[in-house]
Amino acid sequence: MTHRDLPELLSAEVAADPHAFYRRLRAEAPVVWDDSVQAYLVSRYEDVAHVYKNPVFSTKAYEWQLEPVHGKTILQMDGTEHARHRALVSPVFRGKSLERLHPMLLRNAAAVVDEVVLRTAEELAAPLAGRRRVDLVRDFANYFPVYVIADLLGFDKEDHPRFLRWYTAVIRVISNLGRDPEILAEAAQVRAEISEFVTPFIAERRANPGEDLLSVLATAEIDGEPLADDEIKAYVSLLLTAGAETTDKTFASLFRNLLAAPGQYERIRQDRSLVIRGIAETLRFSPPTQINTRETTEDVKLGDVLIPAGSTVLLLIGSANRDERRYADPDRFLLERDDLDAGKAFSGAADHLAFGSGRHFCLGAMLARAELEIGVNLFLDRFPQMRLADPDAATDVGVKMRGPQSVPVTL
Ligand code: HEM
Repeated sequence: MTHRDLPELLSAEVAADPHAFYRRLRAEAPVVWDDSVQAYLVSRYEDVAHVYKNPVFSTKAYEWQLEPVHGKTILQMDGTEHARHRALVSPVFRGKSLERLHPMLLRNAAAVVDEVVLRTAEELAAPLAGRRRVDLVRDFANYFPVYVIADLLGFDKEDHPRFLRWYTAVIRVISNLGRDPEILAEAAQVRAEISEFVTPFIAERRANPGEDLLSVLATAEIDGEPLADDEIKAYVSLLLTAGAETTDKTFASLFRNLLAAPGQYERIRQDRSLVIRGIAETLRFSPPTQINTRETTEDVKLGDVLIPAGSTVLLLIGSANRDERRYADPDRFLLERDDLDAGKAFSGAADHLAFGSGRHFCLGAMLARAELEIGVNLFLDRFPQMRLADPDAATDVGVKMRGPQSVPVTL
């Protein structure tokens, strides 16, 4: 039974203002069962950070949540299997040299990534310049990270819109906390479409590897064995979606947060050392992924609550990042905070929880940093007069993933 007097997570009341609900949870019921999602909710910073690091809280729940759409991915693996599969592409995302991965790829990954990110941002921003009013979400942020990842994977520009369509379908599945069977059926269809499209490219890259991420996966080996086509397709599908909606929403939230507070946009434009601080504070204040899922492998006590083995546990990142026990004045967006280290915000040592924590800490955090930093600086340079056109339209929506669906601005 859901805790007395508290609304349920999947109620209209929580969707309208999750932070009021989170505040009550942290104060009254920091670990609590919720009927609407058939799961325990964990809301305090310290508890969420602990759960990420405790292997009793496994990522097995992703088997039903994500496997229907992607196939088996690193998110649901643990132990050595997880470490080996993650290590295949992590040097690319950490900006290391690709030489170790493939003898033909001699360039530094950071340079390749920065080139792709800048080119994509410039191409998408160029048509905005002639317009007075644009929507930062629908005219830019929706496309930007999908096109970057499709480009890094080595797919042609003409095929990028097809990735955008798949990604839009996949996020409906991922947000399916209520386990709606119709949405699960849609997952199978998208998975088949991605598979049909990607399979011929895998064979082609095995024969002729190039300087792209698909070539890295197609030529990777674990214990002398190449990855199976299904494993590569699952990775492609995961990268496409894990990296897109998150970065898309962070970009939109960042501009909304900056433009909503008088003088902040101009301040950050004049002092670019604040860009990284603004991104880090946006990740704390408006994390795009508000909830991660875990499943207990044995009975375990968290706070005063005994959670039985096999339970689903939801980590409320949006709540933990605004825990008054951890951050001063947590409901204010502040460019300068002495309780948030912007320098560490994109590494495993990050002190906000927007990228998760522990062994599944976001693999793409450095790519997200490159996209956000390059994208934000480009907009600050090109559109010095930017203003919110309709502040009411830029409000956050969503419970599992949350951010503004629209940020209309004048340029
Ligand atoms: C601001 C942008 C981003 C945010 C807020 C974000 C958030 C997260 C979070 C919270 C997790 C942990 C999931 C869990 O423990 O259950 C995660 C994992 C992951 N992210 Fe990100 N992400 C972002 C960008 C990206 C990008 C750009 C990519 C790559 C293209 C990416 C790829 C991944 C992958 C592959 C994992 C799984 C890692 C593992 O299981 O070891 N993410 N991300």
